[in-house]
Amino acid sequence: MNLVPMADILQDAHERTYAVGGFNINNMEFLQGIIRGAEELNSPLILQASEGAIRYIGMDYVIKMVEAAAKDTAIPIALHLDHGSSFESIMNCIRAGFSSVMIDASKKPFEENIALTKKVVETAHSVGVSVEAELGTLSGTEDDHTVEEKDAMYTDPDQALEFVEKTGIDALAVAIGTAHGVYKGKPELDFPRLKKIKELIEMPVVLHGASGISAEDLERAVDYGVNKVNVNTDFQQAFTSKVKELFAEKPELYDPRKYCGPGRDAITAKVKEKIKILGSNDKAW
Ligand code: 13P
Repeated sequence: MNLVPMADILQDAHERTYAVGGFNINNMEFLQGIIRGAEELNSPLILQASEGAIRYIGMDYVIKMVEAAAKDTAIPIALHLDHGSSFESIMNCIRAGFSSVMIDASKKPFEENIALTKKVVETAHSVGVSVEAELGTLSGTEDDHTVEEKDAMYTDPDQALEFVEKTGIDALAVAIGTAHGVYKGKPELDFPRLKKIKELIEMPVVLHGASGISAEDLERAVDYGVNKVNVNTDFQQAFTSKVKELFAEKPELYDPRKYCGPGRDAITAKVKEKIKILGSNDKAW
């Protein structure tokens, strides 16, 4: 498949201070809507699928659909596993053709997180696949997993340095106040913490849970060194709002193309909005 390792995409973003969307796919309309938005703005793209999305779509369909979508585009695209939960799940994705994986052992004790992440890095790098890992814990809901606010834990900058040195990862996901899913109150990001982490680790930083974060805060996060911004909920809401709007206007609709098509267009519009905020437009090579 004509995919690039995520490390190549993120290294350029790190050197030139911009961020690339880690945009989640949930079905064919998401895939097509996201790729179209990135193409129209000439932006590199990290397409990501969670384990839940892979179960829903089916691994063969994920691979074949991405292959079909990426075949005729000129932009660099990485296919990334979002929140890989085990070594086995990661190996499945690498074998299937993913060019990047995330191992999320962030809920394990620090030393165990290091050990599992290091094992994934050694294996993935030996076949040219990039690795993202996470330190700290975000609250909120992703797929079927919910972390309560009281259990969220911000990333410790000194631990972050030790973590990246010991594991050899390509990108570090940090917890600085964002949450997965829909925010209950106004999110407050810990920018001094982010700045300190970036100054210490000097490598690509990933922000999860970016839906619902204001354009101003996202721009500031990019200025402070975030190079990958994960968005899922905002696209799900864009798609679903459009579909609901159409059914409110025309309850007699029954042809899925008549509402999934406009839903797909709504995703493209939202993708373009995000790309402009992140500054990855016209950064494709
Ligand atoms: P949101 O659904 O909150 O945008 O989070 C997406 C994400 O972080 C995927 O890893």
